[in-house]
Amino acid sequence: MNGTTPHIVQYQGSKRMLAPQIMRYLPRRFGRMVEPFAGMAAMTIAVSKEGRANHYTINDLNEPLVGVLRAAIETPLRLVADYNEVWSEQFAYEGGSVEHFYAVRDRFNQGEQTPANMLYLLARCVKGSVRYGNNGQFNQSPDKRRNGTSPKTLRPNVEAISYYLKDRTDFMSRDYREVLDMARPGDIVYMDPPYQGVSNVRDSRYFSGIDNAPFVEALDRLNQRGIDYLISYDGQCGDKHYGEDLPDGLGLRKVLLNAGLSSQSLLLGRKEVTFEALYISPGLQQYIPQQPVEQQYTLFEALAV
Ligand SMILES: C[S@@+](CC[C@H](N)C(=O)[O-])C[C@H]1O[C@@H](n2cnc3c(N)ncnc32)[C@H](O)[C@@H]1O
Repeated sequence: MNGTTPHIVQYQGSKRMLAPQIMRYLPRRFGRMVEPFAGMAAMTIAVSKEGRANHYTINDLNEPLVGVLRAAIETPLRLVADYNEVWSEQFAYEGGSVEHFYAVRDRFNQGEQTPANMLYLLARCVKGSVRYGNNGQFNQSPDKRRNGTSPKTLRPNVEAISYYLKDRTDFMSRDYREVLDMARPGDIVYMDPPYQGVSNVRDSRYFSGIDNAPFVEALDRLNQRGIDYLISYDGQCGDKHYGEDLPDGLGLRKVLLNAGLSSQSLLLGRKEVTFEALYISPGLQQYIPQQPVEQQYTLFEALAV
């Protein structure tokens, strides 16, 4: 693995690149890490690679996605073998590999939501971005230029992830508020909810937004119960801000992490750095690095870049 953090597949909004910066705000060792909006669980994987927690809870409302993580961690070789079967079919498929993607998508939408089918759809779809239509069906299109991660590349990654997390991870697929209610003092919760900038579809099957008011209430309850957390919440690029700030009454510290040059701005000929906000709960503020770290900016400094 050459020291890099393993990952299963590209997932839109993944925190893989930011994980090293976010981990600076965590204690060296702690009991359990809870990730209620896990996606492909980049933070859980990064933390477990450093052996910083004893137990992990992975949750995402999207059940088949959690199924992929569970299979990768509990039965990695079986997942690679099943994925290999689905992935290899595309090269012999009569209508070609794009038609094969649609055939797997149909199977998935008709109920065959196996980890291998979900993983293949993720590996082949545009920008690793899961999209569901109004009828709740997976409707993302294939990326026509790629065949999706090869099973050969997948294997060492899932084997490493399994090594870090097997027998110490619980899996759930519930609304984040239920998961927060189960957290205990001593746990650290890392939250990466869907961006507020993304349309706020209320029906929870579509996984594309959460309402601000219940989220703030849930954070207030965590504060009252003395449970610590970090939240990746919103961001800014150039002079554009995404999402509302969280209320001062929660007592959180906000730092901005440098997420690199915005590819969208580069396309428009502008060099603009994207910043992502990280909110730190009261009990974790003692771990904020004493010396300013290169990538840590105050809001003021960020605006002056
Ligand atoms: C920005 S992504 C998380 C990406 C993740 N940090 C990673 O590194 O892959 C947000 C995730 O929240 C999930 N989600 C949306 N609404 C949810 C809810 N009400 N409860 C739990 N999970 C939810 C989505 O399915 C999505 O996978």
